[in-house]
Amino acid sequence: MSYPATRLRRMRRDAFSRALMRETVLTAADLVMVAFVCEGTDRSEPVPSMPGVERLSIDRLQRLAGDCVAAGIPALALFPAPGGQVKSADGREAWNPDALMQRAIRALKQSHPSLGLIGDIALDPYTTHGQDGIVDADGYVMNEPTIEALVRQALAQAAAGVDFIAPSDMMDGRIGAIRTALEQAGHIHTRILAYSAKYASGFYGPFREAVGSSGSLGKGGKHTYQMDIANSDEALREVELDIREGADAVMVKPGLPCLDVLYRVKRRFGMPTFVYQVSGEYAMLKAAAQHGWLDEKTVVLETLTALKRAGADAILSYYALAAARWLRD
Ligand code: PBG
Repeated sequence: MSYPATRLRRMRRDAFSRALMRETVLTAADLVMVAFVCEGTDRSEPVPSMPGVERLSIDRLQRLAGDCVAAGIPALALFPAPGGQVKSADGREAWNPDALMQRAIRALKQSHPSLGLIGDIALDPYTTHGQDGIVDADGYVMNEPTIEALVRQALAQAAAGVDFIAPSDMMDGRIGAIRTALEQAGHIHTRILAYSAKYASGFYGPFREAVGSSGSLGKGGKHTYQMDIANSDEALREVELDIREGADAVMVKPGLPCLDVLYRVKRRFGMPTFVYQVSGEYAMLKAAAQHGWLDEKTVVLETLTALKRAGADAILSYYALAAARWLRD
């Protein structure tokens, strides 16, 4: 039936019928808050390219965790911003049981046991060169030596009590290696969230400032391991391998530039599928909002809803806490 029998505006005319036909409803339970932890007590350091985001000392991080629980957010994704003095060529601080990250995990699981904790696995906060892995003489990130390091890092975080191991490094075969090591160490309940389709994106710039890897990285890129933004068939191959290797959930990253990838991944595999609204996406929205060019609440909820509509079961976002509060009020 076509116009005038079919008038799509009829259902849009009033709030009640718009509500009844709404297909995607964003809730706090869809959101994962992202936070950076730094040394010290009662301390926070602003991240200049991400206004409103701060690196937090562990005690302040615990306060943020409490806010997340109160707002109905199920989980927190944590990244460390360790001081430069712990950086090394092989990033060995990553598996030090007393490293900042491991201490933060223990503290959070003690103070807020119900809040899921997602720990990043990659060496970039800890390496002098800012790469996610261990490099050879030419600066190429070596796959197998890096996997060995990542396995150590994963075991250290699992021992500290993290709920989700989230490898963001894009080495081949690391999910299987980590899964095997977790099983052998008796960490049979530790979940793996694989950053399966992670693209070499310019939108990670503010994050690198936040964890302090941008200076180390210099002009070095990550194109020899992160995916070419031009590809999406390749993303399906990445996801398929990670599922076979034992991933419990998979992720697409960044978010808005990859809606089509997210859609394909969810449709094809039906896996718990996460998406990461990354630092540059946050910075972009925040900057426009600060200029008064965009209405922040409207566009943030719009982008998060779009990510869910495209297939995301969960969305990592620096806006998670603000969004959860907007949804409640
Ligand atoms: C590095 C890592 C990055 C992000 C998460 N883990 C940056 C990178 O790959 O250089 C980006 C997150 C963001 O931009 O918010 N392992």
